[in-house]
Amino acid sequence: MFNKSHNKLFKIEKDTNFANRILALSLPSALVFIMLVALKLLPASIAIIAYGTIIVFNIIWLFPVTFEMQQVRKYIFRLSKEKNCIHENFNLTENDTKEIVKAVNEMHRFWTEKAEKLEAQTISDTAVLDTLPDPILMIDQNGNILGANNAAHKLLGSNITDRNVEEIFSSNNFINAVSRVLKAESESENLIFYVNHNENKNDLQKIYAHIKKLPWISKGRAVAVISLYDFAKATKIEKMQADFVANASHELRTPLSVISGFIDTLQTTAKDDEKARNMFLKIMAEQAAYMSLLIENLLSLSKIEMMQDMPPEEKIDILTIVEDVCNALMLKAQNKNMTFKLNFKDNLANITADYGQIRQLLQNLCDNAIKYGYQDSIITISAKNVSSIPAAKTYQVALGPAVAVSIHNFGEKIDHEHFNRLTERFYRMQSHKNQNIKGSGLGLAIVKHILIRHQGNLKIKSETTKGTTFTVYLPIEQNKTTN
Ligand SMILES: Nc1ncnc2c1ncn2[C@@H]1O[C@H](COP(=O)(O)OP(=O)(O)O)[C@@H](O)[C@H]1O
Ligand SMILES: [Mg+2]
Repeated sequence: MFNKSHNKLFKIEKDTNFANRILALSLPSALVFIMLVALKLLPASIAIIAYGTIIVFNIIWLFPVTFEMQQVRKYIFRLSKEKNCIHENFNLTENDTKEIVKAVNEMHRFWTEKAEKLEAQTISDTAVLDTLPDPILMIDQNGNILGANNAAHKLLGSNITDRNVEEIFSSNNFINAVSRVLKAESESENLIFYVNHNENKNDLQKIYAHIKKLPWISKGRAVAVISLYDFAKATKIEKMQADFVANASHELRTPLSVISGFIDTLQTTAKDDEKARNMFLKIMAEQAAYMSLLIENLLSLSKIEMMQDMPPEEKIDILTIVEDVCNALMLKAQNKNMTFKLNFKDNLANITADYGQIRQLLQNLCDNAIKYGYQDSIITISAKNVSSIPAAKTYQVALGPAVAVSIHNFGEKIDHEHFNRLTERFYRMQSHKNQNIKGSGLGLAIVKHILIRHQGNLKIKSETTKGTTFTVYLPIEQNKTTN
């Protein structure tokens, strides 16, 4: 490719300038010869031969310079179009053209390096801005958005670049604050305002904004930066913390009152009754174990909720996790003379997920299958690839292929009306409470929150003779949704 273009570079082109230059250069000698012939000082034939000799001499003298200038012109032209065509071994003989090419090459190298550095800097700056969790916008003197990071696109939509802040934000307070900064009436502005995402007036999002004039006027036209902070996140975390405290104190009160009741009894009426003491201590130990299970589950639930907006990134193999879970629960299953049967399809895809959370999800479901399954029965865990995830009512599931993992046990039928309530915190079926089967009622709430984070779904099927199946759908890839 290089040789080809190299040959092309040295092709001689018809050059009218060259002919004009030769004629112009020979014009004075032509006039002299005409005068000499007119004054009969020189015969016409000699004058023609002499004039011809001068033209040939001019051609020989001017040709290399003209030819090389032509090549240099073409070379510079190409250099301006192609990035990597620097030519060190240019076949030049004239010192001037050599010097020109050398200077041009130096200049080209200098600017290429500068452009590369600038490009690398811009890429890393953009990457840094995109990793920031809060929305950032850059605007020009007229309030047009020149650039926005990923968080800004997520909050305001993907098509905000080149649009004016007035079109995007309806808050007059915010627009006035931006205008004050742009008119240099103030260096920076801070305010709280509301963004209305849909027509519904109640669906307002509380935003804190910081608008700051840039200390320089860049050639990129950006004159101010707007950084936004979404209060919904903070409010959500505050609500979670409040819920956590309320739930925890409410649920811990019962076992705690049982324990303190028994302590009272042991200190008074049952003080010297060894049989009663042993029985009460056993109940107290059970209640203490229940309290620690409750605390563990509540902490785990709030941790999962905190991570809800962070898409998982690990590549995991479901079979390894299921085998791990079965081993962990083996003893518990054996106590009820139950066995695990695995039914995995060979080509099962690996999924993008959080290893620890998927393990917890499968462990909770298998634990329920043991707890609520019949003695001496088989628990079957199957997994297969599916083309899509059934839609969920309250949150968005990922699009595209998924893995479906089903945990089936034979046991008492769950009536359909319970299905939606099973994933509520602390919801337990009355029949199980009556049978005194221990549980916190948080296992399926944890399953649900893990599935929300993974954009997956849960489906329940239960029939009197066929048993109960909990199927979880987990996407193979996490969709990068914008809302
Ligand atoms: N495999 C199952 N068969 C029958 N009922 C179940 C099954 N899994 C869960 N449940 C019902 O759902 C309720 C909630 O389950 P979960 O959130 O795991 O709480 P826990 O197991 O601590 O009670 C259980 O109390 C039980 O009534
Ligand atoms: Mg459970």
